Amino acid sequence: MDQIFRELHKISDLLLSNKRFLHIKSCVDFAVQLAKIHEVDEDRVAVAGFAHDIFRDVKPDVLLRMAVAYRIRITKLERLNPILLHGKIAAEFVKRRFNLRDREILQAIAYHTSGKENLADIGKIVFLSDSLEENRIYDNINWLRQVAKQDLNQALFLIVENKIQYAIKRGLFILPETVRMWNWLIELQKGNSNWNWRGSAVDLNKSK
Ligand SMILES: [Fe+2]
Ligand SMILES: [Fe+2]
Repeated sequence: MDQIFRELHKISDLLLSNKRFLHIKSCVDFAVQLAKIHEVDEDRVAVAGFAHDIFRDVKPDVLLRMAVAYRIRITKLERLNPILLHGKIAAEFVKRRFNLRDREILQAIAYHTSGKENLADIGKIVFLSDSLEENRIYDNINWLRQVAKQDLNQALFLIVENKIQYAIKRGLFILPETVRMWNWLIELQKGNSNWNWRGSAVDLNKSK
């Protein structure tokens, strides 16, 4: 693991803006906090958190060429907006460069933007940390951080709901993986009558 972190550091120096590097560091910090609380392997979470955005500052045409070289199937939406590929490319890079075969780490990296149904805990934590790390500032974020510390699924529900509402309000695409994740979360919610995620979402919008 140490060698992976050292190499990721070197790559970050080459490819990332300072602002992006700070986001990644802070994402790892928050992800490790969540991993401790929810008893998930901290090193695996940290690797996924560190790697998730290493190609985020690479130019769109280069991302498209990398995706072709890595034989990643490019969807219509990704072709229109190649930045969407940065997670899948990072996962493929980590897999090849470090011979890393940990599916949960690779999925966490590949799907950190879109989300995905049946995410493992590592994927849930990276997805949440990307939105909740300490450099992010928006209404209710402190409350959402607390929710994430108490219940990963409830926090996911609220974050995905916010993402979908944001896209609808601004007339943006909603990625199919995000829709599938939403449906999966609804199923989980229905399976646990003690949770009242919808009620929490209403509180979220009303609270200051
Ligand atoms: Fe990203
Ligand atoms: Fe990120």
